[in-house]
Amino acid sequence: MPDALAEAVSRRRTFAIISHPDAGKTTLTEKLLLFGGAIQLAGAVKAKKDHAQTRSDWMTIERERGISVVTSVMTFEYGDHVFNLLDTPGHEDFSDDTYRTLTAVDAAVMVIDAAKGIEPRTLKLFEVCRLRDIPILTFVNKMDRESRDPFEILDEVEEKLALDTAPVTWPIGRARTFCGTYHLADNAVRGTDADETVTKVNGPEADAVAGLLPESDREAFIEEAALAMEACRPFDPAAFREGSLTPVYFGSALRNYGVRDLIHALGLHAPAPRAQVADTRTVEATDAKMTAFVFKIQANMDPNHRDRMAFARVCSGKLTRGMKARLARTGKPMALSAPQFFFASQRQVVDTAYPGDVVGIPNHGTLRIGDTLTEGEALVFQGVPNFAPEILRRVRLQDAMKAKKLKEALQQMAEEGVVQLFLPEDGSPAIVGVVGALQLDVLKERLKVEYGLPVDFEPARFSVCRWITAEDGEEIERFMNAHRGDVARDLDGDPVFLASDGFSLNYEMERWRAVAMTAVKEYH
Ligand code: G4P
Repeated sequence: MPDALAEAVSRRRTFAIISHPDAGKTTLTEKLLLFGGAIQLAGAVKAKKDHAQTRSDWMTIERERGISVVTSVMTFEYGDHVFNLLDTPGHEDFSDDTYRTLTAVDAAVMVIDAAKGIEPRTLKLFEVCRLRDIPILTFVNKMDRESRDPFEILDEVEEKLALDTAPVTWPIGRARTFCGTYHLADNAVRGTDADETVTKVNGPEADAVAGLLPESDREAFIEEAALAMEACRPFDPAAFREGSLTPVYFGSALRNYGVRDLIHALGLHAPAPRAQVADTRTVEATDAKMTAFVFKIQANMDPNHRDRMAFARVCSGKLTRGMKARLARTGKPMALSAPQFFFASQRQVVDTAYPGDVVGIPNHGTLRIGDTLTEGEALVFQGVPNFAPEILRRVRLQDAMKAKKLKEALQQMAEEGVVQLFLPEDGSPAIVGVVGALQLDVLKERLKVEYGLPVDFEPARFSVCRWITAEDGEEIERFMNAHRGDVARDLDGDPVFLASDGFSLNYEMERWRAVAMTAVKEYH
């Protein structure tokens, strides 16, 4: 029934929220779930936050990770749409998974603290989105507090991110007088009541709008809104979809303002599941046969079992419980006998997932990050990249006799995506790379508990890692010979250059122009 498939595809919106810690991601997530009727999950999100403060031992890490299985994917319905919100782990549990999750979404919501503007983590996550041309909606949060001037915030987004902005709404009042949002193109006000009903008006000066504000603030609001209408870019859906323009919404997640503007915008403007590029062809979401790729692996909470949960995004067709799939990397069949479907409402029993949906596939290590599943076709999705780690450490074994076992264990941890592994060409001890420090804690604890391998980490003298490629293979050989102590191979055997800092990286890039040094590597 291709029509049913096309309808399911057109209803789906799969997105993530990107932000710097404390900008309000958790609060906004809760409100989205609340409005989507998934109230019971809203509590789970909060629980996760509370644990984040006190994680120090293995059990708390496990608990955290266990809870994050629940919150990895949050599905809710609102209006005509099915939303899949994929969690991008934040705070200290910021990790490679945070980046990889962005490869499985079709749009992102960038939450900015209105008092702080663009912060470093937001910038990094934005860069990953840009790499994938992921369209971004901006939510300027905490307008109920002292904040920067909205025009200043728009300028900052344009300058720091080189991204055009189009304010779709404008805040009515500021800080204590903030009481709703004004829709600039529609001349409508989203109100102060619990349902945030929308009322059409003649303009910002209408009593229904200006009357919400104390006398002293009215004039300023009317002027500002008029200026925004006149001077700011109008929303251009095409520019948004290609990732060069972001529509901006103002609000307060805590006080429920602007949240519905955002959900409506996601339904109206965010793309339905997009076509995905594979090695042999581009796969349309509406293609009848099922395809999916794995973007995240989660180890089981029980350290005595090697069970893993692979999170796969469906790219086309229909994934059903019990279906036989082909694992592209090995060419072997794999029965999807117990896939987990994530629906926020527990009343709903589902056993079918459509493009844009994410399913959890329990397995014992068969599935790896980047794996493609099909109904038989030999194709491999190009989507899931590796991002150069920002923290590099040498692994020092407390018992030197167990070097071989350590190598195997690190290999497994790397396949699972816990860390990235680099084996130096000069035979010195392995180097692990992560983007978030908590990954090192998790690695250390898991090596001890699961493999009986107590390890320490030593600072490596490197802080930058780049994959190196060249059209002329011999040039790579020459480069590696000239940098014996500073080159290594990753899990796939691909060569990387390890530099002590950005300065020496630039220096070598200047000297070796035929060698490309990249911060991103696609899985293959
Ligand atoms: P995060 O997930 O991005 O880290 O942010 P989170 O939602 O946890 O929000 C960080 C803090 O900012 C929280 O306060 C939260 O209540 C507050 N906050 C979020 N949205 C708004 C908003 O629209 N307006 C205002 N005024 N505050 C907001 P906290 O005191 O750190 O935590 P809590 O004890 O209140 O949970």
